[in-house]
Amino acid sequence: MSLMGFLDRIADVPTFDKAIEPVRRGVLAALRPPAVKDFLHGTWLGHPLHPVLVQVPVGSWLSAGVLDAVPPLRPAATAMIGTGVLASVPAALAGAADWSEQEPGVRRVGALHAVLNVTALGLYVGSLVARGKGRGGLGRVLSYAGLGLATASASIGGHMSYAQSSGASHAATAARALQHDWMDLGPLDDLPEGRPALRTGTGGSADVPLAVVRRGVRVDVFVGACAHLSGPLQEGTIEQVRGADCLVCPWHGSAFDLDDGEPRRGPAAVPQEKLEVRMQAGHVLARLSSRHQ
Ligand code: FES
Repeated sequence: MSLMGFLDRIADVPTFDKAIEPVRRGVLAALRPPAVKDFLHGTWLGHPLHPVLVQVPVGSWLSAGVLDAVPPLRPAATAMIGTGVLASVPAALAGAADWSEQEPGVRRVGALHAVLNVTALGLYVGSLVARGKGRGGLGRVLSYAGLGLATASASIGGHMSYAQSSGASHAATAARALQHDWMDLGPLDDLPEGRPALRTGTGGSADVPLAVVRRGVRVDVFVGACAHLSGPLQEGTIEQVRGADCLVCPWHGSAFDLDDGEPRRGPAAVPQEKLEVRMQAGHVLARLSSRHQ
C-alpha cells in the first residue's frame, strides 16, 4: 500500500473520533475570543497562516541537521534547534485552529500529523537538554530522529493540503467549472432584497450554484460554494461584520465582504470568488473575472 493509500485508510476510520472530538472541543474553547482564532487562521492576511509559520521550524531544524554534520559548526546547530522549538509553538497554534474546523477525514489525518509533530518537538527539546549537559552525541541522535519525524509529518501536512484540499479555496475550484461568457441570471426585479438568492451559472459540463445578493439596484454575485469547505452561501445571511456588509456562510460562519469578497471573519482565510456584474434590459448578467480566462 502506498503512503497516500495508508493516509486515506486513516481518514476513513471513525473510531478515531472518540479521541479526537474532545481535543477538538478543547481547541475551540481555548482559542477564544474569535479574533484570536481568526488571527491564527490568517483571515487578516487573506492566506492561511499555518503554512507561512511552519517555514521557520522546518527550515531551522533542517539547517541544524546540516550544521551538525560539520563539527566546528555544531554550536550553530544548537541555536537553530532552539529557534525551531520556539517557532513551532505559533505554527502549532495556527495549525490547531485550522484543524478544528475541518471535515472528519482531514481531522483524523491531522491528528496523526499533530502527534508526529509533538513527538518531534519532544525529541528536539531532549536534544537541547542533552547538548546543555555536554552529551553532544546523544543530542545529535535525538535531533536527527526529530528531523525524520518532522519530515514525515510535513509530508502528511502536504497530503492534507493537496489530496484532501484542507487549505485550498473550494470556491476557486467551483469557479473553474463556469463558462467565461456573460451569463443571464434573470430579471433584477425577481431578486429578493437584502438576502442571498440561488441562481445557476452555466458550466462546461455541469451547472454551478451562484449566490446573488441584491441591495437596491446593486447586485453582487459570488460562486455559491464557500471558499472554506464548499458551504452553500446562497443559504447564508447578510450581516455587518467588522464594519462591512458581509455574506455569511451557514456552515461555519465565515463572513465575506460583499464589496470585494475578502474574508472579514474565519475560518475562511482566502477571498470568496466574486463575479463581474452588469445590467442589460432589466436583467442581471454576470461572468467570471478575467483572471480565470
Ligand atoms: S464552509 Fe466553512 S465557513 Fe463556509
